[in-house]
Amino acid sequence: MNKYYQKEIDKRRTFGIISHPDAGKTTLTEKLLLFGGAIQQAGAVKARKAARHATSDWMAIEKQRGISVTSSVMKFNYRDFEINLLDTPGHQDFSEDTYRVLTAVDSALMVIDSAKGVETQTRKLMEVCRMRNTPIITFINKLDREGKSPLDILGEIEDKLQIECTPLSWPIGMGKRFRGVYNIFQRKLNLFQPGRQALAQQPIVINDLSDPALDELLHEQADELREDIELIEGASDPFDREQFLKGSQTPIFFGSAINNFGVREMLNAFVELAPHPGLRAAVPRDVSPYEKPFSGFAFKIQANMDPAHRDRIAFVRICSGKFNRGMKVMHHRIGKNVTFANATIFMAQDREHVEEAFPGDIIGIHNHGTIKIGDTFTEKEILKFSGIPNFASEHFRRVRLKNPLKAKHLRKGLIQLAEEGAIQVFRPVLGSDCILGAVGVLQFEVTMARLKAEYGVDAAYEPVDVGVARWIGCDNQKKLSEFEKENRANMAMDAEDCLSFLTTNEWQLEYCMKQWPNEWQLEYCMKQWPEINFFKTREAI
Ligand code: G4P
Repeated sequence: MNKYYQKEIDKRRTFGIISHPDAGKTTLTEKLLLFGGAIQQAGAVKARKAARHATSDWMAIEKQRGISVTSSVMKFNYRDFEINLLDTPGHQDFSEDTYRVLTAVDSALMVIDSAKGVETQTRKLMEVCRMRNTPIITFINKLDREGKSPLDILGEIEDKLQIECTPLSWPIGMGKRFRGVYNIFQRKLNLFQPGRQALAQQPIVINDLSDPALDELLHEQADELREDIELIEGASDPFDREQFLKGSQTPIFFGSAINNFGVREMLNAFVELAPHPGLRAAVPRDVSPYEKPFSGFAFKIQANMDPAHRDRIAFVRICSGKFNRGMKVMHHRIGKNVTFANATIFMAQDREHVEEAFPGDIIGIHNHGTIKIGDTFTEKEILKFSGIPNFASEHFRRVRLKNPLKAKHLRKGLIQLAEEGAIQVFRPVLGSDCILGAVGVLQFEVTMARLKAEYGVDAAYEPVDVGVARWIGCDNQKKLSEFEKENRANMAMDAEDCLSFLTTNEWQLEYCMKQWPNEWQLEYCMKQWPEINFFKTREAI
């Protein structure tokens, strides 16, 4: 393999940011892009977010689509590294897409609000990272405000997220007493100057914490820092790259994104520690990025600007080989050669002049519905990348047609929207109305508006007594049939005819609801049917 190609792979870092809304993902993204020179002024990303969230009205989303297609992948250079930052949609547009983006990254950056600690959305996203043992770097944000004690936050992360923490930086005070962060990794001190762009600021080097210069700089907080460092060096495990790459240890950084403080230290460590594209699981064999033939998979489909043409953009993550504009590849699911002629290559700002892309990069392929999530593309070899699942829905609605003559249109629309990953569709074994499932509630609004605009279907939602869905699998066919028969009222088929189990969340036993929110009946069922497997995800087929 030639050296140029290997170098291109080794310098790539493809990652996503996981956080609960308001932890500071947008602010941090903006600072990262500023460091990378991808944007010139602060406020650019923020403005986009404000526009996107100003309203959840679907027309507004439609207007934003053009922007969000390109901003779904933010590419920038930092030092000698080529960074692909994949956007993980949050807030109202939190959806299955958010989860799926994480199947295309090589690492993740977890942002935690120092006052709030570990929150629900972070926990959910972390579960997805765990499926592929994605390495995670943690940034604890908003140290310029009063928050929980750093040790408590670490304890909470270890407890709630089941990942070992190893601080590589340590805060000196917080809120009004926030003086800066001490970089344990490099033994350098960064003093905090609120409101200043820390782009050009040079850290002070303190090789020895007993240096009296520290007392001059930090006064009484110098001793506090010494005690803290002694404590954590004794109590926490040292950084272990193996453990980090396996996703069982996370290096921790502290800072304040809005003040651009601690961000550069984190980014410097990130590019050095985070892995370049690696081996990808596929059937029948894993694929190395250094292999010469091209391969990749689609992990996200986005409807394009012109709904009349049902034009879609498939986001394809390159796993091996070099992509050249206009190249021919095999589309395995449909068994045809396709030309990636009108691919959008999410490269630097000037997208026109880029003709090639490498493992770790994302390309956007225009298509009219021929590409589904999970599709694999290779030059010749028959392969199927795995680990690009559908995720169990968390919200449900029954969809009822206003005009029964439009049943066919509704079916077609729902099948296509399900293929795009916009919504999940369940057909209950008993009854005729479809039940729609989503990870984020905005998906319902978007689906209804698109059914009307693109398929001429006038329908309405009704609430439905379903709170949990699981795909069902069992090696013992007889047992499965028995289970199906006894639970007919709970059984449904999804858009790809996979057997699913839907169950309610309405339970009087308050205790059980607290212990097992939405899942009490499921737990009960699992005990009754030990041979039946209840899956939270299902591989794309
Ligand atoms: P998100 O994308 O994760 O949802 O969070 P975002 O960056 O939008 O940040 C959420 C709020 O937290 C914003 O305030 C932002 O300014 C603030 N924030 C981000 N980083 C820090 C930090 O280091 N320290 C402090 N004190 N605040 C921070 P907002 O009031 O919602 O918006 P804005 O009026 O500031 O734009």
